[in-house]
Amino acid sequence: MQLQENVSLRPYNTMGIDARARYFAPFDTLEALQQLLDRRAATDTLLILGGGSNILFTKDVDGWVGKNELKGIEVVREDEDYVYVQAGAGENWHAFVQFCLQRNLGGVENLSLIPGNVGASPMQNIGAYGVEIKDVFQQLEAFHRGEQKVHTFTLNDCQFGYRESIFKRQYKDQFVILNVTYRLRKQPVFNTSYGAIEQELAKMGVLDLSIQAIAQAVVNIRQSKLPDPKEIGNAGSFFKNPSVPASQYATLQQSHPGVVGYKNDDGTVKLAAGWLIEQAGWKGVRRGDAGCHARQALVLVNYGHATGREIYDLSTEIVQSIQEKFGVVLEREVNIL
Ligand code: FAD
Ligand code: EPU
Repeated sequence: MQLQENVSLRPYNTMGIDARARYFAPFDTLEALQQLLDRRAATDTLLILGGGSNILFTKDVDGWVGKNELKGIEVVREDEDYVYVQAGAGENWHAFVQFCLQRNLGGVENLSLIPGNVGASPMQNIGAYGVEIKDVFQQLEAFHRGEQKVHTFTLNDCQFGYRESIFKRQYKDQFVILNVTYRLRKQPVFNTSYGAIEQELAKMGVLDLSIQAIAQAVVNIRQSKLPDPKEIGNAGSFFKNPSVPASQYATLQQSHPGVVGYKNDDGTVKLAAGWLIEQAGWKGVRRGDAGCHARQALVLVNYGHATGREIYDLSTEIVQSIQEKFGVVLEREVNIL
């Protein structure tokens, strides 16, 4: 185990926040993870870090950061309809998507270009363009930090929901995800109904639909809307899209005819938080180096040297203003530390 002390976390979070970790230890084997757990005092905090693309550090980590670098992607099983691919938690998510595209395995093309690593994909059941990880999830292996034992979790065990899983709730900070197995289709089923995918495919001049074309369309749309963390610090959508009862949506439609909402299966309506935030006048607002992105109001950004606290305080102002204007409570999607 390579242990470093007093390390800046700036290169390890896409928000670009200059927090520090008292101890920083990458691990690329289960043995190295066990050494880390043995070395750490029982009272020390431990944060498991992937690509750092869904985290806001509001203070230094007065404990341990274990950077998950468990690698490897392999086909583990195959049946008539599916190929089962296992990926190490430390593999880059988009590299895994490309592995599937190269082999013509369908299911994750709509999830192209989501930053971060495989190990975090089940944490919040990542989703985009009409697909969530739960749609391709087979199982995962995770190491219980206290028991020091490997557990297997199936789809039902994970209790996936919109940007939710059991690992964010009752098992929070208890498990280290080691690898995830996904179930990919040999005969892809195309999913182009969401958002601007069809429009983008037409613009690209695609006549023969394929998962590779869908992936490229998704990449194009994402690049046109979302800021690249290499150029401007951000963690994607800062808030979840909130769901409200149908009756509240109807009232909102009367007072704000342009309100954007999508019906959920349970009859509630999911509102586009980006629309609410834009309408409340936040889009493009900048406070020092903390800001609300000018092209996508759901994304909060760090223009350079904002502190995590400054970004967090801006998010609190936005929450308050949306509650006052629309009577809707926004929940943060990013993990606040
Ligand atoms: P991290 O930020 O490192 O960690 C996130 C959380 O998971 C932390 O609590 C961490 O402790 C925990 N964790 C990480 N790895 C492990 C592990 N192996 N075991 C246990 N716990 C672990 N998300 C979407 O769902 N859809 C999108 O379309 C999307 N677009 C984005 C666009 C941009 C530009 C950015 C910057 C982010 C976007 N995100 C999106 C958010 C982010 O990419 C995902 O949440 C991603 O899964 C985070 O992966 P990560 O490895 O960076 O996780
Ligand atoms: N909108 C505005 N103003 C804005 C931003 C959005 O009016 O500033 C409106 C758009 O016009 C559109 C609607 O809001 O009508 C939805 O916008 P968009 O398609 O950009 O998606 P989103 O709801 O903002 C969600 C996810 C993204 C995911 C995309 C595509 C959440 C919290 N966010 O964003 O995920 O990539 O859909 O599926 O669910 C993330 O989780 O980090 C993330 C980027």
